[in-house]
Amino acid sequence: MAVIVDLGAYGEDFTADPYPYYAKLRDRGPVHQVRLPDGKEAWLVVGHDAARAALADPRLAKDWRATGIWDVREEQTPLSSNLLELDPPHHTRLRKLVAREFTTRRVEALRPRVQQITDGLLDAMLAAPDGRADLVEALAFPLPLIVICELLGVPDMDRAEFRGWSNEIVTPTGEEAVQAAVLGMVGYLDGLIERKRREPGDDLLSALVHTAGGSGDGGGDGSSDGDGSGPAPDRLSRQELIGMASLLLVAGHETTVGLIANGVRALLDHPDQLAALRADVGLLEGAVEEMLRYDGPIESATWRFTDGPVDIAGTVVPDRQFVLISVVSADRDPGRFPGPDRFDITRDARGHIAFGHGIHYCLGAPLARLEGRVAVRALLERCPRLALDPDAGALSWRTGMLLRGPRRLPVRWA
Ligand code: HEM
Repeated sequence: MAVIVDLGAYGEDFTADPYPYYAKLRDRGPVHQVRLPDGKEAWLVVGHDAARAALADPRLAKDWRATGIWDVREEQTPLSSNLLELDPPHHTRLRKLVAREFTTRRVEALRPRVQQITDGLLDAMLAAPDGRADLVEALAFPLPLIVICELLGVPDMDRAEFRGWSNEIVTPTGEEAVQAAVLGMVGYLDGLIERKRREPGDDLLSALVHTAGGSGDGGGDGSSDGDGSGPAPDRLSRQELIGMASLLLVAGHETTVGLIANGVRALLDHPDQLAALRADVGLLEGAVEEMLRYDGPIESATWRFTDGPVDIAGTVVPDRQFVLISVVSADRDPGRFPGPDRFDITRDARGHIAFGHGIHYCLGAPLARLEGRVAVRALLERCPRLALDPDAGALSWRTGMLLRGPRRLPVRWA
């Protein structure tokens, strides 16, 4: 009889620093049956090779509708027609429609604007008379939020409300609160899509709405999704439009905040590495990859499900089980990265799986890298004496198994 590892029993220490726990699990094997802090049972993949293989394993489904693993109807989860909850060929069709917008070349064209936004945020931060700020609130959160909202065409005034819903969806505080956030977001996106249909702008959402027909049909109510007779290849249904817009907006800003916050924290915690980067800005790209490997912002990839028994690295996971792949654990596997707990911006960190692997590999990776590099460089250039604020007390952490990062990162520069 397999032992179920109770992650909830590790308490808040696990949220603050899960790495020693993952190391112990990896020592015992790459795959474990676990009880998550929220009580749900799942199979957790912690070894690098097993995680990489599982991320690309077509036998691990993303579309829960096909497995019947959840006793919910599609209309009860109105954001679920999105890339991370779909398998081929549905996933392939939708991904093709947006992939060209996020290539490294297309994203590079955004550099001047990303720099401008960063400069403006740092101007405001550095105006603080006491020389202290919360780096999450001042830079790490607003930068990616403004960038993705501009890209999609979400007006300024709507962003605060959007941020609240998004936060609740990725780090839920309760069943009712999540439902309210989902409904809020769906209602909002419905209205926004309707506006883009009537008055298209020069933004990605207008382009997607236009792809969807643009003449007011919107591809119907999406009820034909998944039955093989769905929308034509170059059109999106209403449900697909809402799923795509919500995923891009949420994934576009809830993650990069962690790259900037966790990455800057790692630098400030390792003065030798900080000094090396200050001395040679040519190390910046490698440093950002090491930040992603050492303490990436996604703790585990999104849910996968077995639809029949699946052998993962020698462990047979039975039918209809939840599988969670811990990418942060995988990237600390000493079998893949020697001395994995050492933060070393000169190491070859390529091959990390902070952006996932396989067909669901992060669509926004070029954008996230651009934002991370611009933010870290500007911060170091403008704050020669940047340090963690010693008077701020212990950090508090985002909860749950999806995202990893501090809620606030108090720093000082005076
Ligand atoms: C440092 C920042 C980021 C990290 C660490 C990250 C990480 C990831 C990971 C691990 C996955 C795969 C999840 C899985 O297989 O279950 C993923 C998928 C995705 N990410 Fe990111 N992401 C980041 C930033 C972004 C940004 C800025 C965008 C916005 C465009 C974005 C959009 C997406 C989308 C749309 C997917 C789904 C792709 C698919 O299923 O085909 N991400 N990301």
